[in-house]
Amino acid sequence: EVCRRIKDDPETAFIPVVMVTALDRPEDKVQGIEAGADDFLTKPVRREELIARVRTALKMKDLHDRLQSAYKGVDRLNEHMMLALTSFEPLSFDRDAIEMDLAKRLLVPDERAPQALLIVSDEGNVGRMYRRRGGGEITRDELHLNPPSLKSVSPDEGEVRISNWWQEGKTLPEYQSRFPKEVFNLLKFVENFAAFRTGGTLVVAFNYAGDVSAFEAEVLKGLAIHTLVISTMSRQIQETERAFRYSVEALSRAAEENDEETWEHTIRVNEYARTLAEEIGMPSRFVEDIGFFAQMHDVGKIHVHPDILRKPGKLTPEEWEVMKSHTIAGAKILGEEPRLKMARNIALSHHEKWNGSGYPYGLKGEQIPMEGRITMMADVYDALRSKRPYKPAFPHEKAYKIIVEGDGRTTPDHFDPDIFEAFKRRADDFADIFERYKGEDE
Ligand SMILES: [Fe+2]
Ligand SMILES: [Fe+2]
Repeated sequence: EVCRRIKDDPETAFIPVVMVTALDRPEDKVQGIEAGADDFLTKPVRREELIARVRTALKMKDLHDRLQSAYKGVDRLNEHMMLALTSFEPLSFDRDAIEMDLAKRLLVPDERAPQALLIVSDEGNVGRMYRRRGGGEITRDELHLNPPSLKSVSPDEGEVRISNWWQEGKTLPEYQSRFPKEVFNLLKFVENFAAFRTGGTLVVAFNYAGDVSAFEAEVLKGLAIHTLVISTMSRQIQETERAFRYSVEALSRAAEENDEETWEHTIRVNEYARTLAEEIGMPSRFVEDIGFFAQMHDVGKIHVHPDILRKPGKLTPEEWEVMKSHTIAGAKILGEEPRLKMARNIALSHHEKWNGSGYPYGLKGEQIPMEGRITMMADVYDALRSKRPYKPAFPHEKAYKIIVEGDGRTTPDHFDPDIFEAFKRRADDFADIFERYKGEDE
């Protein structure tokens, strides 16, 4: 009856039971097995035999616990992978945050869990050590390692290495002297570790409570593979992103070739636009994007003949029509690609005016996309500060005065009132940006 109760309660079901009985009939044994007994001893009991049986039962229990704990470990890793992939944001990809999250799932306050995790990727010079501190918080330290010093812990590619100091026939101090100084200085003592290496990433978990076995190493292997998948993905995304940005910049350089405007002008427009977007409280993703895509505003000028672009005098009505078409041409060049949507909106609407007097469509107020309204403000300020075939460069004070008070060409009602106010508040930053990215002849 006692045995039945122990085995019925999930909390205690895995406690091994050795039944000592005076009965030796097969029916009694069957009854005992049905109650969940793991082993039998028949009276009279020999002490040595009892000890041996108990030892075996405890070993089984230990293996069971390790398996259970490894299973939970793998489960936590899978949960992490699922979250990492479902909330995957390629542009705000943060490898450190993902790694920290993985470390949190390995370094749990569990009796089988390790206390520290070292991840060394790529060339093996920089390692990140995660440690569980009192109170369950995880700290992260960057280690500069010298790759040969890792030899003593690193297994061959694709292999697992398990090490307990008492199995290595050395004293604890001898055992500890094999670890790189940087690692040892952080950990203060090491009594066991498990390591796995794959695809250039080495992961080492230190100081499992008691000892470390193949079960724990399997969990670590899972973690290493997750880390590899994530860092490979991250690297590829970054490469693609670099190539994308490079192409965008190449396109805007190509467009400037014919124009009187300069490379510095496009950089400055990016910076003013970023400043305005931030000042009116746009989301950070918008601020980042406009700070890069505002440079595309005049990409359509690639279709306008240099004689018109550089004409010192007044344009004829026909020439003016051609000039105005750079907005529509720009939108056409940028096409339908979703990543270029903001750039396309900017190219198309950066000459629209709040009061409806702009081009190409004469849009009014909020009909004009926000990115167009912001870039227009940025472009007007920079045009005033720059030398043009038809005007000299103005100093900041004069440009500011023209925008705020208006003159023949620009009036305050050209601007979205919120952006106009933001410009007034951040005018000093505009002046700084101009100074910082000044071209040679400005
Ligand atoms: Fe333009
Ligand atoms: Fe411009």
